[in-house]
Amino acid sequence: MRRPVIAGNWKMYKTRAETRAFFAAFTPLIAASNDVDIIVAPPFTALSAAVESAHGTGIAIAAQNLHGLREGAFTGEISAGMIVESGCSSVIVGHSERRQYFAETDELVHRKTKAALAAGLTPIVCVGEILSEREGNLTKQVLKRQFEGALGALTPEEFSRILLAYEPVWAIGTGRTATPEIAAEAHQYLRGLAAANFSPEEASAVRILYGGSVKPDNISGLMAHDQIDGALVGGASLDPESFAAIVNF
Ligand code: PGA
Repeated sequence: MRRPVIAGNWKMYKTRAETRAFFAAFTPLIAASNDVDIIVAPPFTALSAAVESAHGTGIAIAAQNLHGLREGAFTGEISAGMIVESGCSSVIVGHSERRQYFAETDELVHRKTKAALAAGLTPIVCVGEILSEREGNLTKQVLKRQFEGALGALTPEEFSRILLAYEPVWAIGTGRTATPEIAAEAHQYLRGLAAANFSPEEASAVRILYGGSVKPDNISGLMAHDQIDGALVGGASLDPESFAAIVNF
């Protein structure tokens, strides 16, 4: 049985003060939920405030991005080691906004995933097709390219430490969620790629999160599907009540 995981991606929202206020409101609301892994990914500047606020709650804190090298002359970049030192246990890698607006390639996503793993972080590796690819029947082709490009060269041991997130780009921030059936079909396909590239055991163990307009009113339908092991939540993770409602699905 795969343990559910609900992750919130705050993107470029929330100051340190807003982060503390979020946790003060959120923590009591999820106190009774002990069968779900909870992850919150604030912006870099609020990571330490989030780590302090989440101390003792079991909530894991993630960064939203990292550089693939340990250190160097890369103005504005943050390494995996720095993220670990901030008290994080996880990091989002290859989010579609990074791929779209910051030109991240599968090869770069691969290097970042390796760097995260080498530092002991759990990478939450995102894949997903854009609308024209779905409409052009290219979804599987795109998922295969992204999966193999980012993850194909991992060792089975490394692969066993990642979380995979299927985020169809047409569903992100649009209010247009994939139906549980559409999401489950993609998850099943990704699990098949995991079986082919690694092993059937790895494929049945890997947790695959769905992301794209997850809200309190659609989470139960998604989680009811045995292919869907969790959610990566953007907009609805910013409000303590709505994120708690998703965690307590
Ligand atoms: P959304 O974002 O929930 O606001 O659609 C999801 C994501 O980008 O991870």
